Amino acid sequence: MKRISLTQYLVEEQRLHNTIPAELRLLIEVVARACKTISHSVGKGALGEVLGTAETENVQGEVQKKLDIISNEILLEANEWGGHLAAMASEEMESIHPIPNRYPKGEYMLLFDPLDGSSNIDVNVSIGTIFSVLKAPEGMGEPTEADFMQAGSKQVAAGYAVYGPQTMLVLTTGHGVNCFTLDREMGSWVLTQRDMQIPAKTKEFAINMSNMRHWHPPVKRYVEELLAGDTGPRGTNFNMRWIASMVADVHRILNRGGIFMYPADLRDTSMPGKLRLMYEANPMAFIVEQAGGAATDGKQRILDIEPHKLHQRVPVFLGSRDEVAVVTGYHQG
Ligand code: AHG
Ligand code: MN
Ligand code: MN
Repeated sequence: MKRISLTQYLVEEQRLHNTIPAELRLLIEVVARACKTISHSVGKGALGEVLGTAETENVQGEVQKKLDIISNEILLEANEWGGHLAAMASEEMESIHPIPNRYPKGEYMLLFDPLDGSSNIDVNVSIGTIFSVLKAPEGMGEPTEADFMQAGSKQVAAGYAVYGPQTMLVLTTGHGVNCFTLDREMGSWVLTQRDMQIPAKTKEFAINMSNMRHWHPPVKRYVEELLAGDTGPRGTNFNMRWIASMVADVHRILNRGGIFMYPADLRDTSMPGKLRLMYEANPMAFIVEQAGGAATDGKQRILDIEPHKLHQRVPVFLGSRDEVAVVTGYHQG
């Protein structure tokens, strides 16, 4: 098999579609390199003294794990000096991180969830990193949070790394979705899946069922119908999976289909769902749509949502097109 490296892929994409100028290529390669470093830390586990909880909380009021902080630092340090970015934002930082004045500034802005699936770190279950790339607004001065307030449809690139039995990088720049596997001995990313496609139909769903009593009626109805199986209105049996790492759940769905849901519920209406729009839902929605799937908040396309704050939460329904259409229809009906 002829091996195509991430660099070769990016160079050839630029020749083909003109969507990956040198500065964006640098950005993607730097993020990929940072993910390689995170993967190395994750893989060390107790031997690297990276497991367990830090003494801090993030802006979402969640207790931070050591690896949340380590991964955030790795991404910040890797991306600061290259001249390709104007600013960064992260799940683990309350406000945006402008590029320090000692470095040149570029025209892109990077958002990330440095370590997704934190509750799985200490139990050796797959976790990941999610990232989203936006263009800095024309004529932007000192970057502010307002400059980040762009709909997901404006993303120029998005991707995730999954740290599982294999470390993989899944990437879109708006021309399909491709997957690279980390060759751990060589330290290089090798193209292993081209043009990933999510099957439109599925019999597998992913949701945290323990929240069922809090759900809104459309979600309850949808899941009850799935659970009723071949004796219910759907006339067929469905299977369930829930990894509690969005990256790992989405990765499964990209490979064999499925629907992933994290709905809003009746508990706290100021917190519509758990997942964050800017660095979880938007990049995943971009990837899923580029793979032929769909992603909504129950009412509208996630990529059409006009954000109003950096850490805004959003209900998420994504994956196989036909199932996302059913549950979205129940919300609209
Ligand atoms: P994070 O670790 O970045 O805070 O994200 C965790 C998210 C997501 O990855 C996962 O799907 C969900 O939280 C799991 O939620 P439950 O704890 O409700 O299962
Ligand atoms: Mn997350
Ligand atoms: Mn996280």
